[in-house]
Amino acid sequence: MSLDRKDLIGLEDLSRDEILSILNTAEAFRSVFDRPVRSVPIMRGKTVVNLFFEPSTRTRISFELAEKRLSADIVNFSAASSSLKKGETLRDTAQNIEAMKVDMIVMRHSSPGAAAYLGRVLKASVINAGDGPHEHPTQGLLDIMTMRQRLGNLEGKKVTIIGDISHSRVARSNIYGLGRLGAEVTVCGPPTMVPRAIAKLGAKVELDLAKAVAKADCLNILRIQLERQSQMVFPSNREYALMYGVNEDVLRRTKPECFVMHPGPMNRDVEISSDVADGPRQVILEQVTNGVAVRMAVIYLLSGGDPGSLGAGE
Ligand code: CP
Repeated sequence: MSLDRKDLIGLEDLSRDEILSILNTAEAFRSVFDRPVRSVPIMRGKTVVNLFFEPSTRTRISFELAEKRLSADIVNFSAASSSLKKGETLRDTAQNIEAMKVDMIVMRHSSPGAAAYLGRVLKASVINAGDGPHEHPTQGLLDIMTMRQRLGNLEGKKVTIIGDISHSRVARSNIYGLGRLGAEVTVCGPPTMVPRAIAKLGAKVELDLAKAVAKADCLNILRIQLERQSQMVFPSNREYALMYGVNEDVLRRTKPECFVMHPGPMNRDVEISSDVADGPRQVILEQVTNGVAVRMAVIYLLSGGDPGSLGAGE
């Protein structure tokens, strides 16, 4: 099915069929990566603007590559050198950009709800590339794509998300998306970083790391997000690493086939030890490669693309 919506704000809004359609389309685009020419002329003549108000390495480059591989025209906006510095509002900035006839805006912003707001005030499609601690839908989709490649059908599969759940848009998008596909999500972390209300989104809470990893098919380890914490909610990085860091000792308590994911950027030897980050059980760079394919799929489907024409059926 194609996506019958203008914007992608979060996985909370997507049905199971919409998620499967994006994943199947992404798999079709992934096959393009192995060709000598990695671009397709699908978005020729369309213009995409990337508005990043927060730092990003993976998401910004991945969207830009996805747009280039679809042959779209691209403009990268730099908040630091824009008229926002002269007091222009986000709405005025975005509406002025839209008046230059753009088709799509990809936005990362520190405020939850910023992408939804732009979606309401613009006619152009808006893709949320992360809005504060709210959602990071394309990260959730690339994580799920990577899990599906390893595990097949995710119905009944056990995913444990470890770390700073309170401040994590990645955790929220994973919980919504995995829930739609029937996976069982457990969240684990220090009590100060795991809001009990997260259970209302459909995740189980297990604060004991050994118990949380024992039956997992996949561990998704989150970055400690110091920039979103108004005060330290754990005594020190060393203490966090001792209590909740995923290292070889923790992996020995998992099933042998359990694999390790991290959305990046990593705090090595805090939430993940270097031997795990570089070890045989991690699929972190697979996630990054899948990210380009997922973003190509989202851009294509929001532009009215037909997944059937790519051979991306159910
Ligand atoms: N995973 C992720 O969003 O990374 P960046 O902040 O580098 O985009």
